[in-house]
Parts: sequence; structure tokens; C-alpha cells
Amino acid sequence: MSRHLIEIKSVTHSYVTQTGTLPVLQGLDISVAEGGFAAVIGPSGCGKSTLTRLIAGLMKPNSGEVWLHGEIVTSPRSSVGMAFQNPVLLEWRSILKNVLLPIEIVPKKMTRSEAEDRARHLLSLVGLAGFEDKRPSELSGGMRQRASLCRALIHQPEVLILDEPFGALDAFTREDLWQIMHRLREEEPFTGVLITHDLRESIFLADEVFVLSGRPAHTQYRLKVPLSKPRQIEQLYRPDVIEILATLRHQIEIAQGRATGRSESMVT
Ligand SMILES: Nc1ncnc2c1ncn2[C@@H]1O[C@H](COP(=O)(O)OP(=O)(O)OP(=O)(O)O)[C@@H](O)[C@H]1O
Ligand SMILES: [Mg+2]
Repeated sequence: MSRHLIEIKSVTHSYVTQTGTLPVLQGLDISVAEGGFAAVIGPSGCGKSTLTRLIAGLMKPNSGEVWLHGEIVTSPRSSVGMAFQNPVLLEWRSILKNVLLPIEIVPKKMTRSEAEDRARHLLSLVGLAGFEDKRPSELSGGMRQRASLCRALIHQPEVLILDEPFGALDAFTREDLWQIMHRLREEEPFTGVLITHDLRESIFLADEVFVLSGRPAHTQYRLKVPLSKPRQIEQLYRPDVIEILATLRHQIEIAQGRATGRSESMVT
């Protein structure tokens, strides 16, 4: 847990659009320890999804560096798994075959039958045993999201990037998925980056929370989450945790330009 698996060093990035250049990230620094889990929160449109594309190697920053496992990222990596708000599952494939899809695309570390055993195991870990042969439309939104987590993890990625994966789900389903995330991480530790708008989610899942400023975004505030593991939903009702949530909310308001106050601080 000591060295950093992901390092975003002074990353600056702009998009060139028909109407001009849009600076999105400006001198962004974020690092995540091996086996650690970071949450990134910030105003809408500040550049969070852009950050995920840079970590995954889908784009290169204009300046600065993205390091993954001691190497500068310049192209897409198979060691990265991704899951998004609206899981795109292929309707003509069963849930099992959807989970197996990355194995058909990225270089294989395992045989087909090992992959199938692994897919079944992951599906049972997330409570989807018995649904392997169903089609995506036969599952609820929460179940589809659980299947997409299995798909993101099937090829044993070192890094899992989650871009608002639980945003479209109701509060209780979301809390179930938080518990499932912890279960998955206990089973096979991976390094995680979670983009979210849900402050409770950031605290519940992450070891460290990064608040991005408004665009062009830099790291405005960092918070080491002081919750022990295993995490319980009840911890979120502790007075000190409610105070932390208020601090994060205030930082978001600063980032949105709706409040003034101290930023660039860190609570440990
Ligand atoms: N491919 C692109 N070309 C041009 N502009 C883009 C592109 N992708 C994103 N943008 C712009 O860059 C800014 C940052 O977008 P991004 O999707 O990274 O924000 P975000 O923080 O993920 O927002 P949200 O919280 O709403 O998901 C936005 O103003 C967006 O319009
Ligand atoms: Mg986004």
C-alpha cells in the first residue's frame, strides 16, 4: 500500500472545439496508492470524465504526465477496467457472455473455461448467480450495473475506473452496490478511482477523496477518509462523519464559485 500505482502529475488538458479552445484541466495532481481507492468529486463539467479517459490512455494530456505502475501512459491499457453510469450491455448476448466480452477483446491471461468459471464466480459474488443465461432487458437497473462491474473486472485489471456507476440507481440499490464493491475488493484487491456526485458514496467507498475545482480543474482539496474497515452504513451517521460531509459540500460550493473559503487543505 505504500507506492503509488496511479500518478497524475501536473496534467493540463484542453479540447479544441469549433468555437475555440476549452481549457479543462490545469496542473492537476492526484496519486493513488497500490490497492487504494480514490474518489474524485467536483462540479459538473469540471473535467472528471476527461480525467478517466486520460488514466485509461484513451487520450494524451497536452502537458503533464499520467503514470500507471511506473510507466507513462500513452495508449489504452488492458490493465484498466472501466464502468459507467449507464452500463452498455449487448441485448443479443446473455449476461454471462456480456461479462466475458473483454476477454474476447484484450489479450487473454486465461483460457475460455477459466474465464467462464471466473465470470460465474464474479456474478455469484454480486448476487447474480442464476441469472447467467438471462438477457440484459430481463434484469433491473441495479442488476445490470452489477453485471457491468463483473464485466469490468473479468480480465483482472489492476485498476478499476468507475465514472458515476451508481448515479442512475435509487438510494437503497446504491447502498447495496457500495457493500458489493467492498466485497469485491476484499476478494481481489484492485486500485480504484471513483468519479461521483454523491458525497456519502465518496466517503463510504474511498480511502481518499479529491475535490476538483471548477474548470479548468486542479485538486482543490484532499481528504483522507477516517473510517475503519469493514465499512458499515451506520458509520455515515456519526457526528464527525456528518461534519466531514459538510466540509466536502462546502468545498464543492467553493469549486462552483458559490462560496468563498479556504481550499488546498488536507484532513487526516
Ligand atoms: N470530446 C470533447 N470535445 C470537446 N469538449 C469536450 C469533450 N469532452 C468533454 N468536453 C467538455 O469538457 C468539459 C469537461 O467535460 P467532462 O465530461 O470531463 O466533465 P465532467 O466533470 O465529467 O462532467 P459531469 O460531472 O457533468 O459528468 C465540458 O465542458 C465538456 O463540454
Ligand atoms: Mg462526467
